[in-house]
Amino acid sequence: HRDLHRLIRRQRQMCIRDRYRTRKKNRNPGGSAVKALILSGGKGTRLRPITHTNAKQLVPIANKPILFYGLEAIRETGITEVGIIVGDTKEEIKKAVGDGSLWGLRVTYIEQEAPFGLAHAVKIAEDYLFPDDFVMYLGDNLIKDGIKPFVDEFQKTKPNAQILLAPVPHPQQFGVALLKEGKVFSLEEKPKEPKSNLALVGVYMFDKNIFSAVKAIKPSWRNELEITDAIQYLIDRKFTVTPHTITGWWKDTGKLEDLLEANRIILDTIKGSIQGEVDDHSRLEGNKIIVEKGAQIVNSTIRGPAIIGKNAKILNSYIGPFTSVYFDTTIEKSEVEHSIILENSRISEIRRIEDSLVGQNVEIIRSFKRPAAYRMMLGDSSKVEV
Ligand code: DAU
Repeated sequence: HRDLHRLIRRQRQMCIRDRYRTRKKNRNPGGSAVKALILSGGKGTRLRPITHTNAKQLVPIANKPILFYGLEAIRETGITEVGIIVGDTKEEIKKAVGDGSLWGLRVTYIEQEAPFGLAHAVKIAEDYLFPDDFVMYLGDNLIKDGIKPFVDEFQKTKPNAQILLAPVPHPQQFGVALLKEGKVFSLEEKPKEPKSNLALVGVYMFDKNIFSAVKAIKPSWRNELEITDAIQYLIDRKFTVTPHTITGWWKDTGKLEDLLEANRIILDTIKGSIQGEVDDHSRLEGNKIIVEKGAQIVNSTIRGPAIIGKNAKILNSYIGPFTSVYFDTTIEKSEVEHSIILENSRISEIRRIEDSLVGQNVEIIRSFKRPAAYRMMLGDSSKVEV
């Protein structure tokens, strides 16, 4: 009787192991099981009012949501299983990304009840991730050359954690690493007096040891479970944490200036393509211009690099370099340069707009009503310079 029990137990264990193995194989054919965790929750306080209602990870850069660049970067590494942490803006993110099949990915959404920190996000994703290695990618980060070399190095050298670093002019706005003899010596989150100029870029790699770290640490002064503290915990317990320094360009797109800079840099890499209509009275200057399907350019000048979205209308206007106009927007008798204009907005008879981010369904129009005055309805936390 006892033997029978033992036999059944063994068979059950084998069954579970087999099921696990096949799942693993299907998940990442041809590779070891590495997953990705994208963090797309949080509150975009520094991008208000745009982020009062919209996810900061979905603001388009060169007419493509920031998050999509991250999905592409992950796809390029060969990883196919992606968990996405979502918060208040979950519906919007789900609508944009769906099941991930557009990128050849299998996406699982993991809901975080509030932005309690990057390490908290790892904690709640344990069921999904354990026991696989994973790359954690902050959904508002943009890394121009992707993350394949970073992921490859981790798989080759097999440390317990690997961090991505980049020298920055204002390290106090980031997590900061101090290296000694090429090793990570210590980490600090947004220190007042940074010990180096090496910022933590929002991409990390971990093996399963990170789970005990995120469970052991306590919330920081900003009441978040910090991933920097979790990595420091690993360092203190002699786990191997290796640094990888980035050579190309990257941006944490949390602020307006960063978004505009990211837009500038990405637009500078585009290949021109004209699918919309450009009439005979219009001029396209430079070869880095995209005019998407259904867009109309009438009696206007577009100076590249610039992108005009689907069904947008540019009438009797000038669109200057480094401008992205998203879909269904109309710009007439106006000049716009070095700006991002989101969908379904209207700009009419405005002499010139520069260095601006204009949200969805916004109207900026000249009015001939008397008395001449500025009349506005602005959302909370808006900023207008006239
Ligand atoms: O961008 C790099 C920096 O990212 C690092 O240098 C810092 O060490 C790291 O802490 C992080 O700093 P931020 O303060 O800029 O992180 P932020 O709150 O902007 O969150 C990053 C992403 O993670 C963003 O897409 C929102 C998402 N998030 C954030 C928190 C706090 C979540 O999904 N859940 C959360 O609980």
